[in-house]
Amino acid sequence: MFGEGQSYESYPEDPIKEEIRNYWENPETARAFSELQQNEKNQQVSEAVDDIMMFGLEAQEEPIQAANLGAGAHIDRYHQFFEKLEENVDSKFDWVDSSPYMLELAQEYLLKDQYSERGKVVELINSDMLDYLDNRPNEALDLAVMQYTLDHIDDNSLDRLFNLLSQKLKQGGRLVSTLTTVSPEIDSISTNARFLHQGQEFPDNETRFLQEGEKFSLKFFKESGNPESGYLEGGVTDKYYHSPERLESLAKEHGFDISIGDWKEQVPREKWQDNDVEQNVMILTKN
Ligand SMILES: C[S@@+](CC[C@H](N)C(=O)[O-])C[C@H]1O[C@@H](n2cnc3c(N)ncnc32)[C@H](O)[C@@H]1O
Repeated sequence: MFGEGQSYESYPEDPIKEEIRNYWENPETARAFSELQQNEKNQQVSEAVDDIMMFGLEAQEEPIQAANLGAGAHIDRYHQFFEKLEENVDSKFDWVDSSPYMLELAQEYLLKDQYSERGKVVELINSDMLDYLDNRPNEALDLAVMQYTLDHIDDNSLDRLFNLLSQKLKQGGRLVSTLTTVSPEIDSISTNARFLHQGQEFPDNETRFLQEGEKFSLKFFKESGNPESGYLEGGVTDKYYHSPERLESLAKEHGFDISIGDWKEQVPREKWQDNDVEQNVMILTKN
């Protein structure tokens, strides 16, 4: 990926303004981030999540009640799931995000002809995801989705998330969540971002080990797959490492079956033969 002799020190100066810590707190950076997400890998991950969401719901005739927690801008994804929801006018997909700017971008998609039908089943909800769950009636949800958001939940709030999910999901209901990293080991660079450990960049040929619940940060590149493009302004985001052991122990405590691994283990082969993206996921099923 990098030319000979090139190191992380030779990338453009960090243009990130400290006052914009998270891209979703500012309308321009929220838009730039959502445009950055229009890359192949991000779309393939959404397709994988769509396949897992559908599993077990294909034949459901009753209305489906679902929530996307930290939903972001991309209502232009999850085609199979939306098609299924649109079969029954009483189905509902709560699109929950704490950022009003992300929801404005989602609304822009709903105004396009090709996605306007989705407006009948989607409700945009500006709320912290934990507060949203807290305010739901018990045993109301068939499905909750967290694409790239579980690791925004800090270690202290993780138990509350599992507790709320166990109250709000119906029996047999599921949480489908992507996991940024299953291993405690992080590389310096991924397709879209540089990883910071203890707030610091580290050389491209090194790895770092995360402790349970430890914060790490991602600094997104302006262009996906191109570290030399510089960084997205406001694109530093804090995440928290939750090990599989911790997630498994919380699942047990709160009455869930849990499965962690590559998404391809979760769906039949014919679903993934055209989508070989590697993405770890966690699926919780309420007992
Ligand atoms: C990495 S983006 C993912 C967006 C979307 N799930 C996707 O995959 O395109 C993270 C999103 O989570 C939202 N978010 C972060 N913390 C949140 C919280 N505590 N409650 C609700 N939304 C949150 C942000 O505003 C942002 O839109």
